[in-house]
This record gives sequence, C-alpha cells and structure tokens, in this order.
Amino acid sequence: MRRGTIIFLVINLLVIGLLINAFSTLISLLFEDGSADAIHRAEIPAPGSDLIDNRTQLIPKIIHQTYINTSIPEQWKPGQQSCIDLHPDYEYMLWTDEKSRAFIAAEYPWFLETFDNYPFPIQRADAIRYFVLAYYGGIYIDLDDGCNRRLDPLLSYPAWLRFTIPTGISNDAMGSVPQHPFFLRVIESLQSYSRNWGMPYITVMYSTGPLFLSVVWKEYIGVAREAAERVRILMPGDYKGHSWSFFNVVKGNSWHGKDAQTIFWMGRHWMLLTVAGFAIAAVVGGCLWWSWTIWVMRRGNTAARRRALWRRAPSKERYELVDRMAAAHGTIVHLLWPLYD
Ligand SMILES: *[C@@H]1O[C@H](CO)[C@@H](O)[C@H](O)[C@H]1NC(C)=O
Repeated sequence: MRRGTIIFLVINLLVIGLLINAFSTLISLLFEDGSADAIHRAEIPAPGSDLIDNRTQLIPKIIHQTYINTSIPEQWKPGQQSCIDLHPDYEYMLWTDEKSRAFIAAEYPWFLETFDNYPFPIQRADAIRYFVLAYYGGIYIDLDDGCNRRLDPLLSYPAWLRFTIPTGISNDAMGSVPQHPFFLRVIESLQSYSRNWGMPYITVMYSTGPLFLSVVWKEYIGVAREAAERVRILMPGDYKGHSWSFFNVVKGNSWHGKDAQTIFWMGRHWMLLTVAGFAIAAVVGGCLWWSWTIWVMRRGNTAARRRALWRRAPSKERYELVDRMAAAHGTIVHLLWPLYD
C-alpha cells in the first residue's frame, strides 16, 4: 500500500478507536431498549380502577416542578394547573431559581460551587430536579408536560424514568423514593460530568441533561441487582398520546416558531440523530477514502512518477487532506449531536 493510504487508514482507525473508547457507554445505549425494566402496560391499572388504591405506594405524594420564579408563562399554566387539580392530596413544590440555590446551599453545600458555575441556567434547572428527588422523593414533571390522569399507579415503583424513542431516557418526568441509589448516583456523578464541550447543546445535554442521565442510567443498570434498586421504565405509549397515558405534552404549541419546533424535535430524537451522525460520518469517511484512492491512483500511474511526486509535492497538501478527513469524523458527529430539548 502507498504510504499516504496507510497514514490515512491509521488516522481513521485512531479517530474511530478514540471515539468508540470515549463513547462506549453511549454506543451501548444505542442497543438498550429498556425492556428488561419496562413497566408493562398490563401492570398499570386503568384510570379510575379500584386496583389503584390497593397497590403499595412507595413514592411520596409530592409533585416537583421548576421555573425561574413564580411567574409561570401563560402557555404553561394549563399544564401546571392540570397536574395540581388532579392531585389535591399531593404536596406541590415549585423550585424557583432562588429556592433551588437556597436548598443546595443548605442541604448539599459540596455542590454549590458547581451549581453556581454552570454556564447555562438550564443546567441548574436540570440538576435541581435530581437533588430534590434524591432528598424528598416524589415525581418531577417538566412545566410543559400536563397531567392526563392521576399519577398514583406510578407511586408503586421505587424509581422510574421515561424511555425515549429509539433509545435513551429523558429527564422531563421522573419519580423516586427519597435516597434511591440511582438518584444518589446521579447527584454524585454531576461534578465529574460538569465539562464544557464547546457547543452549548452538547454541553447541556452531556453535563446535566438527558444524555448525562442516560449514560449514568446505562452504567447503573449494569450494577443494580436488588429489586429495590431497580429503576423501572415508563414506555412511550404510557407517557403520552393515549387516553390511559399519564401526561399530555403541550410542547409544540403556537408559541413555538418553526425553528423552535425543529429544535424540540431534535431534542426528543437525540439518539436517532446520534446514530445518523455516526452513519453519515461513516459514509463521508468512505467517500473520502474512495476519492483519496482515486486521487492517489491518478497521481501515481508509474512508480517513477510516484517517487517524483513523493519527493516534489510537498507533503503539506496530503497531510492537510488527511487532517481534514480526521476532523470530519469529529465535526460531523458533533454537529449532528443531539440538540437539547
Ligand atoms: C420572573 O422572571 C421573568 C423572566 O425573567 C420576569 O420577566 C418576571 O418579571 C419575573 N417575575 C417576578 C415576580 O420576579
């Protein structure tokens, strides 16, 4: 093989190897369908069923939500009110910026510095929900998720998360008993994931958002053995879209422009986009390799010409091309990386 081709291949293999190594949990997430821990539809009593009150309820009756302050924007008020109205016997806790910071300062002072230094407010909104679930237990619900029925059946599991299609989990609705080992692990992991990845969406997703939570979850399910340690998974049909679903999501209302809708769509389908990113990177890599081979063949019809080329043509051009190909892998994967929901 020609020297250039070998260099090209080695660089490609190195880049791919590093990516696979760095993102091995992420890659294994692609093949995780959550079925082992799924809450089966048949386990969930229909709305209004007598069976609901007979079930053991482990999670305390608390609903947590977050917002900057107490002035909830108009478009979210109906959703918020639907949850409050359906659950008059639940405690309702709204975690404003001020209240969140005071809570962290009082209960988790070791985290305050990280909390204060997050560059994006959404990271604090993400982090606080894990801390309040670890501390009080209860059910956390995003403000743009309204309630479609009472959440009582979901109180029967020590902890649950919501699965997203095609894989991964979201942090927009979660439930837990206080001090559940999964949420303890989540809050203990936050500091080491608090990194800046250069692009806001990736930084938020991977430091505190759904990507971070999915990776911690994927690692956790490999070690959780006891029944009480299990984190059950709410499947998409039970999350929204049916009369028996627990939530109805008001995302995508008129207040979203087209761009915002696209971003929200990408946020909801971040795993799909990640797979697409890898696939496109592979295709682009293949095409580049193919053009490179053609280019080398054209340039090197005879050994003499080839030797002359190696001597004359400054290697800069070749190396630049190789560099660009290597960068392409990284950039494409990063560009198509999930947008934050
Ligand atoms: C809450 O925050 C919003 C957005 O920053 C602001 O417009 C509003 O005045 C605030 N309300 C209160 C009660 O502080």
